[in-house]
Amino acid sequence: MQVLIRRETPADVPAVSIVTAAAFAKPETPVPVEVALLDELRPCGAWLPELSLVAVSDEGEVVGHVVCTRGHVGTAPAVGLGPLSVHPDHQKRGVGLALVHTVLGAADALGEPLVALLGSAAYYSRYGFRTSTDYGITAPDPSWGEYFQVRTLSAYDPALRGVFTYAEPFDRV
Ligand SMILES: CC(C)(COP(=O)(O)OP(=O)(O)OC[C@H]1O[C@@H](n2cnc3c(N)ncnc32)[C@H](O)[C@@H]1OP(=O)(O)O)[C@@H](O)C(=O)NCCC(=O)NCCS
Repeated sequence: MQVLIRRETPADVPAVSIVTAAAFAKPETPVPVEVALLDELRPCGAWLPELSLVAVSDEGEVVGHVVCTRGHVGTAPAVGLGPLSVHPDHQKRGVGLALVHTVLGAADALGEPLVALLGSAAYYSRYGFRTSTDYGITAPDPSWGEYFQVRTLSAYDPALRGVFTYAEPFDRV
């Protein structure tokens, strides 16, 4: 599938909500928390507009979205990736692959030291993510174990160790 990846604009916000809702919906949570999380993150100081990206189909439809927001390792800035969403009608065609590689490259270009996330190691290892504790970085919730992962970038310094904290809206989900 051919998509173009570009920054999210204000006009994309409703479509991003639809894609996020469709991607995360489950029978028990038809309106997933990730939709409200994005709405709370956008106006907060942790939102990094350079790192909120959409995947747009040939038809001009937003079919995927990814964002990294400001987080910290101890007191040092870093970024947290997520939510990441691809509309179920367009999954397994490389859209997620394009979004993650692009946002990692953008974060690297901005001089961020690392990207952290909570997710499946089976999926994210292909992007160079490793269990955070390999780098001396612990999850906000230690019970996340191997699901909390880190991808180091060019500006990474091994002295960057400690507890990772997400932007404040993540505490409410
Ligand atoms: C995860 C997601 C973004 C991947 O998007 P996508 O466009 O389908 O991804 P790609 O086409 O680039 O890659 C698909 C591959 O990822 C695998 N994959 C997807 N989700 C996975 C998971 N949770 N664990 C392991 N593998 C996974 C698929 O099986 C497929 O594997 P293959 O390449 O060996 O066939 C998409 O499935 C999605 O939106 N899921 C619901 C929301 C979600 O879970 N977001 C991530 C939260 S951390």
